[in-house]
Amino acid sequence: MSGLANRKILLGVTGGIACYKSAVLLRALQEAGAELRVVMTPAAQAFVTPLTFQALSGHDVYTELLDPSQEAAMDHISLARWADLVLIAPASADFMARIANGMANDLLSTLCLATESQVVLAPAMNRVMWLNPATQDNLQRLLARGYLCWGPDEGEQACGESGPGRMLEPEALCQQAVSHFGNGVLDGVNVLMTAGSTREPIDPVRFVGNRSSGKMGYALAQSMRDLGADVTLISGPTSLAAPAKIVSIRVETAEEMHASVMEHVDSCDIFVAVAAVADYRPSLVAADKIKKNKEILTLELVRNPDILAEVAAMEHPPFTVGFAAETEQIEHYADEKRRRKRLNMIAANRVGSDEGGFESEQNALILLWQDAREELPMMAKSQLAQRLAERIAEQYNASI
Ligand code: C5P
Repeated sequence: MSGLANRKILLGVTGGIACYKSAVLLRALQEAGAELRVVMTPAAQAFVTPLTFQALSGHDVYTELLDPSQEAAMDHISLARWADLVLIAPASADFMARIANGMANDLLSTLCLATESQVVLAPAMNRVMWLNPATQDNLQRLLARGYLCWGPDEGEQACGESGPGRMLEPEALCQQAVSHFGNGVLDGVNVLMTAGSTREPIDPVRFVGNRSSGKMGYALAQSMRDLGADVTLISGPTSLAAPAKIVSIRVETAEEMHASVMEHVDSCDIFVAVAAVADYRPSLVAADKIKKNKEILTLELVRNPDILAEVAAMEHPPFTVGFAAETEQIEHYADEKRRRKRLNMIAANRVGSDEGGFESEQNALILLWQDAREELPMMAKSQLAQRLAERIAEQYNASI
């Protein structure tokens, strides 16, 4: 297998009996072509010695945060930047609790806080510990922040019990890593994306906006990058940090987003419009703050350019993917939009309900493309983004 060629994986090993399998995992990842560095927590070293991982990886194992010689070799920030993927296997209940709380009290937890790359958990613990609401709460918090979780498996446990909590077998974890990077299915492919909302000014302090948080678009940008794409992300205002290793452009209004997309679209192979662009903007922007001296204030709105429709109508359009946020008859309206705008694919989701959609940590999508559909059930936006990116890549590759 060579599905991980040139991928840099930081293997984090925390304290649990499944540690002994991490040595096999390291070998499997290496055989798939990945370059590895290993970080162990103090508890992990009670199960397996760093020497095992050092001998297998051919590199020093990092164990200490405050050790000058280790920091001199590769300091913790460089290590955090070096990784394309941080895989914590096994991830103990204690470790998940610490990172869910943003703690940085050893090298590995500090790295998780400092990295901009994808962090993946491969949990391993007793089934009662796994099912404990405290652990499940921590997991949900981490998933909401964009962490991925592979496993755990169900079955016999070292403690003699049986149930969920076994770490996935090394081969299965390695396979997950290969499909995470999608065998580089988008290597060298230029992807242009929009994300977030737009703000249409009314006066110097007020604007017309919407509830889009940008989470879905940012998660998708990361997943497309992980499949090998060169991603340019044009984003409206959001509180989210720009994902690492992509080109990030910030805009505010629909007209600015339109201008930026048109500037970059010629060199892209795939265009994904995730942004909730305001359909209308005030026809006049008041130069000064509007005073509260009328009982009824009327705003006149004019249409904004439809960025996605314009890109799809180009003479040589890229592979175009749109989103449809609907409150009712989701699939019907989405498919009508896909045909009318001549899109290759559309991802429809329900908004305005309690679950999923704008501002939420999770979402569910219905994907529609030529004569085909797929339902992606409610899940964390990071996981949903990975599934969506894989489908876009597959359909794009089938179209060329
Ligand atoms: O027509 P509607 O706004 O519902 O279409 C939604 C899709 O069109 C989304 O992919 C959105 O990013 C895109 N869009 C756009 N420019 C607009 C309005 C929507 O690119 N002005």
